[in-house]
Amino acid sequence: MDSIPANRRLWNQISSAYQHEHDPQIGATPRLWGMYSIPDAHLHALGDVTGKRVLELGCGAGQWSRALAAEGATVVGLDLSEAQLAAASRAMGAARYPLVQGAAEQLPFAADSFDLVFCDFGGLSWAPPHLAVPQVARVLGRGGRLVFNVASPWFEACYDEAASRVTTTLQKDYFGLHTIAEDDGATSYQLTYGDWVKVLRGAGLIIDDLIEPRPELGTPNGYNETDPPDWAHRWPAELLWVTHKP
Ligand SMILES: C[S@@+](CC[C@H](N)C(=O)[O-])C[C@H]1O[C@@H](n2cnc3c(N)ncnc32)[C@H](O)[C@@H]1O
Repeated sequence: MDSIPANRRLWNQISSAYQHEHDPQIGATPRLWGMYSIPDAHLHALGDVTGKRVLELGCGAGQWSRALAAEGATVVGLDLSEAQLAAASRAMGAARYPLVQGAAEQLPFAADSFDLVFCDFGGLSWAPPHLAVPQVARVLGRGGRLVFNVASPWFEACYDEAASRVTTTLQKDYFGLHTIAEDDGATSYQLTYGDWVKVLRGAGLIIDDLIEPRPELGTPNGYNETDPPDWAHRWPAELLWVTHKP
């Protein structure tokens, strides 16, 4: 299924409202992961990027990319949506980096172009992983890493569509989560644990870690209502995969 046109349309439509609502949280300080803004300094997922060739896959307004560029990485920000890329361009700091319009499932880069590919609810949430992960493996050099954060199957399976909130009961089957219908015909993607392992290993990547970011009690979720509010302190809301190409 080709979700590129509808996903591009959706993100172009919502970009302005999305950035208005979320940029203050995403960009509050450098290197914040996910819906609970957990600092990378606590999770140790990305490490030192100085001098590394880095691709942010689905960079949005580039909150991560501009931080890594300022740290001395050679960053490329890729996104499907021209409106999101325009937001990244407006927000770019003194450390300039190139922005590229493209899709995670058809990366416009040669083999061995990057030492690190990463995203935070980016291309690996919005492109079919069985297409996007092999593309990432292709553009990584030997020893290069793919690090990415996505929603957990727990979170998705407990999401009550009618009430628009995450609950403590199973609302959807775990098996068959695969595609999630978003507004206006767009699609996001959600794999089971087993399917992530298959897709990553199938692309020749080695799984080094699966971090389950756990917010402190009282940390708000900036994106979804959860009941109870401290849902993610009790169950894993996100999966932060750390892999490399041997
Ligand atoms: C939730 S944002 C992630 C960016 C940032 N980390 C954030 O949280 O705002 C998702 C981004 O993925 C982009 N996107 C959607 N489909 C994509 C695809 N197939 N390839 C690359 N980027 C895509 C969207 O345009 C959007 O900017």
